[in-house]
Amino acid sequence: MITKLSIANIEEIIKIEESSFDNPWTRNQFTDSCKKFNKYLNFVYNDTSKVIGYLISEIILDEVHLYKIVVSKNNQNNKVGSKLLKFMIEECKKLNKIRVCLEVDSQNSNAIKLYKQFGFLTVGTRNKYYGNNDAILMDLGL
Ligand SMILES: CC(C)(COP(=O)(O)OP(=O)(O)OC[C@H]1O[C@@H](n2cnc3c(N)ncnc32)[C@H](O)[C@@H]1OP(=O)(O)O)[C@@H](O)C(=O)NCCC(=O)NCCS
Repeated sequence: MITKLSIANIEEIIKIEESSFDNPWTRNQFTDSCKKFNKYLNFVYNDTSKVIGYLISEIILDEVHLYKIVVSKNNQNNKVGSKLLKFMIEECKKLNKIRVCLEVDSQNSNAIKLYKQFGFLTVGTRNKYYGNNDAILMDLGL
């Protein structure tokens, strides 16, 4: 089941975040994004009573910037990420947003495949944005 991210979910999310990234978001970053609920579209995927995935995105005028989509390691490649992204895109359409934008590490082939399946197109790159790796900028028109 997909629900809005609440402060009560943050402990669980931090565990997934810290086991997924070398430079994880801090508790404050998650808490801030939760408090600014008018600006952020944040969702969690609950498997029975446990959070196994989450998505963080920010509304900037008529666009939505996707900052994070993360599924816990044991639950990857099981369509959880696809369901979160689909849900978020539907919410963006309901809000009459015109575009979803993101940047992704050029070496993150799983995430790039997911974005391409949803129709995201490459619109640019940022050299060495993630250490030695470039960032790929992708957009989805809604
Ligand atoms: C990227 C991520 C969110 C995808 O979520 P997911 O639930 O694992 O993905 P899905 O099961 O919905 O798969 C969607 C597509 O992504 C690709 N994919 C996802 N995981 C994959 C894997 N382990 N191996 C190969 N392809 C994979 C496939 O193309 C897949 O489509 P297919 O099943 O039709 O081949 C997840 O792998 C993840 O959390 N990665 C670590 C965090 C991260 O890098 N997030 C993105 C940047 S914030």
